[in-house]
Amino acid sequence: MPVYHLYFSPCSSTYDTTYAFCRAISQNAAIEVNLTDRETEVPEIPAGSVAVVAAPVYAGRIPTPMADKLARARLEGVKVVTFAVYGGRAYEDALLELNDLCEKAGATVLASAATIAAHVFVPDLERGRPDANDFAEIKDFGRRVCEKYAKGETTPVIVPGNRPYRPAYKAAFVPETDTAMCRKCGVCVAACPTGAIDAQDPSKTDINLCINCMRCAASCASGAKAQPAAAKAFITARLSPLLGGHKPNEFYV
Ligand SMILES: Cc1cc2nc3c(=O)[nH]c(=O)nc-3n(C[C@H](O)[C@H](O)[C@H](O)COP(=O)(O)O)c2cc1C
Ligand code: SF4
Ligand code: SF4
Repeated sequence: MPVYHLYFSPCSSTYDTTYAFCRAISQNAAIEVNLTDRETEVPEIPAGSVAVVAAPVYAGRIPTPMADKLARARLEGVKVVTFAVYGGRAYEDALLELNDLCEKAGATVLASAATIAAHVFVPDLERGRPDANDFAEIKDFGRRVCEKYAKGETTPVIVPGNRPYRPAYKAAFVPETDTAMCRKCGVCVAACPTGAIDAQDPSKTDINLCINCMRCAASCASGAKAQPAAAKAFITARLSPLLGGHKPNEFYV
């Protein structure tokens, strides 16, 4: 049976984490659905299929474009395994929100995970993660999920989080562009999940659309886009007490 891999992953750590999980649960390549791409929606998935649904955590929530796409999705009869990938601070209501969205779409949540990756804004926080030990844990989680699936168990998965959820993340800055380095190639314009970057002048970004995902910076081969220094300094200072920590992954089967 094919496994669907539905992911939102602007800077690829969510994808890397859940690609490994997909490999652990199926010998066949998963059907990849990159929901980071602005135009991509959740496709029709046959009942009885397994889908891995994965998102990073933004301020303890699921990124708004991913939540909106799941709210429009139909997943009747699909068994999902959800992943919230976060940068070592906290995941708060994100996994609960992800599970609620999947259940409202008609899916059954078979299992869930909250796993660690280096923080996009402060890469020294949980630097190097997911590492070999994380991937070993993800593989073992895959084994346990396969056992549950094979037994036909439908024990509900209970994950931490509160309703109503925390407020959704709102951009506090927009990435800045070094206009001397920018070749106006348009790659960042196409990569932006929300259409926030001006196609005529890629140094202009609409703060009301921007979600601070940093996909534009990750996709710019010229290195022309970056977090503004003041925003970086502010976030680094806020998260610095957490540096040197090593948060555990959490698995719910
Ligand atoms: C806008 C934004 C908000 C974030 N909020 C949180 C958070 O609340 N808690 C946390 O631990 N990490 C947070 N992070 C870190 C990401 O969850 C983490 O870096 C994740 O691995 C990014 O996934 P990606 O590489 O697939 O884009 C945030 C990152 C961004 C860009
Ligand atoms: S991807 Fe980089 S070089 Fe290309 S338009 Fe965007 S900022 Fe400029
Ligand atoms: S402009 Fe904002 S939303 Fe668009 S890719 Fe860059 S950080 Fe993400």
